[in-house]
Amino acid sequence: MCRSVLIDIVSAFPEMFQSVFGESMIKRTVGKGLVTIRIHDLRDYTADRHRQVDDCPFGGGPGMVMKPEPFFEAVEAVRQGKTGAMESRVLLMSPQGSTLTQAKVRELSRIDHLVILCGHYEGVDERVRLYLADEEISIGDYVLTGGELAAMVVVDSLVRLVPGALRVSSLEEESFSRGLLEYPQYTRPREYRGMGVPEILLSGDHERIRRWREQRALQKTRERRPDLLGGQDEK
Ligand code: ADE
Repeated sequence: MCRSVLIDIVSAFPEMFQSVFGESMIKRTVGKGLVTIRIHDLRDYTADRHRQVDDCPFGGGPGMVMKPEPFFEAVEAVRQGKTGAMESRVLLMSPQGSTLTQAKVRELSRIDHLVILCGHYEGVDERVRLYLADEEISIGDYVLTGGELAAMVVVDSLVRLVPGALRVSSLEEESFSRGLLEYPQYTRPREYRGMGVPEILLSGDHERIRRWREQRALQKTRERRPDLLGGQDEK
């Protein structure tokens, strides 16, 4: 039987998620009941009239810092009713986190309940990092205006690994799952504006095609991402 994954996202800009999550594989996977995604407005967890989620930094300095209370309140609320048997992990999206890799996505896809916190402005109160988040995740060495796009990247990469979302064979063949980049792919037409398709792919000889693909994947990886071969590349 297929399990179901619950993802709670806490953000001060919840509308940002509507179009991305309302399309394509994320929509289909949610539709099949394999994943449940709930978006929570951080402002719903404020206690003041202005629904303020940020404030000036102690010690002075430019910019604003996101307040801790709405994050703590939101996480407590989404965890309500969850039993201890359900593994739950709180992720804080931040450029200071460890960089997302396919191995990390695979690990996260096995967790029953993920709570993803999106930071914004100049930063997030350090207590969120220290006492609320289990893990900080960055999607790369650049600074976004907020954690929302990064959270979408995490969800998108994770949803396709949830059992039942994708054909198993597609997963086995893809980049990174075998530690290699993908081999070149072609489809109809056989010839387009004088550009052809490698003859071998039209040969029908499945064993030769398999070997050709393997060798092209290795060659591409050696040229573009030798770091992925990590010394296992025999010259
Ligand atoms: N928030 C801002 N920049 C980010 C990044 N690179 N990864 C994750 N969250 C972020």
